[in-house]
Amino acid sequence: MKGIILAGGTGTRLLPLTAITSKQLLPVYDRPMIFYPLNTLISAGIKDILIIVAPNHSGNYLNLLGSMFRKFGVNISFIVQKEPRGLAEAYLLAEDFLDDQPSTLVLGDNVFEDDFTEAIQSFQGGGRVFAKEVPDPERFGVVEFDADQKVLSIEEKPVAPKSHFAIPGIYIFDAEAVAVAKKLAPSERGELEITDLQRHYLKQGNLDVRMVSGAWFDTGTHEALFEAGAYAKEKKLGERFHPMINEAIAIFNQEFKKSVSLK
Ligand code: DAU
Repeated sequence: MKGIILAGGTGTRLLPLTAITSKQLLPVYDRPMIFYPLNTLISAGIKDILIIVAPNHSGNYLNLLGSMFRKFGVNISFIVQKEPRGLAEAYLLAEDFLDDQPSTLVLGDNVFEDDFTEAIQSFQGGGRVFAKEVPDPERFGVVEFDADQKVLSIEEKPVAPKSHFAIPGIYIFDAEAVAVAKKLAPSERGELEITDLQRHYLKQGNLDVRMVSGAWFDTGTHEALFEAGAYAKEKKLGERFHPMINEAIAIFNQEFKKSVSLK
């Protein structure tokens, strides 16, 4: 199983914060947001992670994460997405990296309280996505269930949502995802939609949907970013990270301080 983090995009809803840095490097309380998806993947034992970044912020990612995990046996690679052409483009950009392996894709601006280790490690094939009941489903991909929890439909940001179940930004797919993404056409808003990829697996009878029980934040707005930070502080989410990540951050901080004091 390989890991992908989508950390590109323009983040225009968070201007002026995103005029100077990438959305996924903004703080969620005491650490840059990108550590949340990294924690999800590393906690599940994934050792090969590709981070997809926008051209203007690639240097910041390299400075922060370029060698942070090397001594822990976790390999982080980077690829630049020239323009934000949609979430499903991740599978096209990641084709060589994936090398016919299954993957877990996490959106760089999603903060989860849950641990996904079991869901990732027990994955056998097809696709596995998640659902979370929300008050504002029209902001998200939306999944509709029948009385037996069977999936009836999946829609991207519907004007009239058929349910209150949003599909959060963590997606587990088998190696087929690359071939499926290659066949997708851009939506009306000009993006390769991750929900179209999900619908393909649904049609094949190969899509499994599980519930997210803990808190989930899509930090794409000022309010959600603030709420995620407040929740992370209150629940000490950072302290609950995989110990290796917190150790890597502590070593990074020490080395950073040393390099500053030497000057
Ligand atoms: O947060 C969950 C939702 O994420 C899902 O429910 C939706 O189905 C899915 O389409 C997505 O909707 P958003 O409107 O929140 O996507 P957004 O454009 O904010 O992009 C999500 C992340 O991916 C964000 O960190 C930016 C990054 N991104 C986005 C695009 C379109 C890229 O790196 N490249 C891209 O081309």
